[in-house]
Amino acid sequence: MAKIDVVLGLQWGDEGKGKMVDVLAGRYPAVARFQGGPNAGHSLYFEGQHFVARSIPSGIFREGSTNIIGSGVVLDPVTFREECAGVEKLGINPYEKIRISKKAHLILPTHKLLDAAQEAAAGKGKIGSTLKGIGPTYTDKISRHGLRVGDILTPDFAERFAKAKARHIQEIKNLNFECNPEEHEAEWMEAAQWLTKFELIDCEYYVNEWIDEKPMLAEGAQGTLLDIDYGSYPFVTSSSTSVGGVCTGLGVAPTRVGKVYGIFKAYCTRVGSGPFPTELFDETGEKIRQIGHEFGAVTGRPRRCGWLDLVALKYTVMVDGVTDLIMMKSDCLDTFETIKVCVAYKVNGVETDHFPFDTQAEIEPVYKEFKGWNTALSGIRSEAEFPKEFKEYIDFMEQHVGVPIKIISVGPDREATIER
Ligand code: IMO
Ligand code: MG
Repeated sequence: MAKIDVVLGLQWGDEGKGKMVDVLAGRYPAVARFQGGPNAGHSLYFEGQHFVARSIPSGIFREGSTNIIGSGVVLDPVTFREECAGVEKLGINPYEKIRISKKAHLILPTHKLLDAAQEAAAGKGKIGSTLKGIGPTYTDKISRHGLRVGDILTPDFAERFAKAKARHIQEIKNLNFECNPEEHEAEWMEAAQWLTKFELIDCEYYVNEWIDEKPMLAEGAQGTLLDIDYGSYPFVTSSSTSVGGVCTGLGVAPTRVGKVYGIFKAYCTRVGSGPFPTELFDETGEKIRQIGHEFGAVTGRPRRCGWLDLVALKYTVMVDGVTDLIMMKSDCLDTFETIKVCVAYKVNGVETDHFPFDTQAEIEPVYKEFKGWNTALSGIRSEAEFPKEFKEYIDFMEQHVGVPIKIISVGPDREATIER
């Protein structure tokens, strides 16, 4: 019996999951996405190529890999078809390498419009959604109105589509949002039919039978601080981005889960609205944004930047049961004289190391300062070459969080990865 190991983002997304899944995928013959949809943008750099994976698992460029789009995912056939065209251009046959769960829910064109209508109506309270229709699609799933990939093959598909569309149009009208709901319908219908060229699977049987024999890697999208239950609600995405999402999204029991890799950046970023205790509004934040190229892979939006938050990290490590930490982008801090990490919060004047229920309360971070290493980490390929200051910094973090940092990434390429 093999296990399903998991890679999860421990912050607000964009931790570098794409790169690490691509690196780890060399060891796993299958990679599965279990939640989220094209709101994800997982950047892969290899052999001089750059590819942004949206719904396709990041194992796609590994030879002989099987890539599963699980039941917990929401799939937009149009974006997925564009993505597959990009993969084909790079010499990969997507039909051979991708399997899609029949139970994955479909993002309809009117889900996207509804997303835009809801955000426009929310004004200042808007979530800062990626406008890919994620929230409305999961809403329909939970309210038992959704359309699933397996439904495309049923005779009443067009009728059910029309019913859902009519319901969405009414909601859009109620929000006084101007749009043409039929603009992309023909293209969408065609792309939905095209999905049937893939092997459509009973995900729970496929995954369980696979891990009876061979290991599998589950690839999270977004991050635990965007989790529908444990994130900074309501400024979250609409799926279970934490470890529990693996079980519900793929149909596997917790006893089948092996390692849980938790990925974090050596600083924090966030796109969209919502609380961010360590956010920097000064030139330090701007310096991190420029050096780290912190602009959205999907939307191009500048990401909000700030110091590493160990209160939040300890919290997500606990929620996810992380066994192995992976630290990304510490090389982006190479030129800082002083590096800060937040070790506690003052919530309404009271110090705590717990992530609070009311994340919109007045939160003042309490920082510990480290002397910068002032050395280029990007060329380093072994732990023995680490500067003394960097070693002190990672030793502190491991002790504080209580989980070893097993992998340190010092650049976007596969090779810029140090294992300990
Ligand atoms: P990856 O997988 C960062 C954010 C959005 C918004 C909130 C809700 O690349 O790390 P949604 O469109 O999901 O309804 O938006 O969640 N968000 C992400 N932020 N990385 C992502 O994915 C994200 N996916 C959604 O910016 O604040
Ligand atoms: Mg991203």
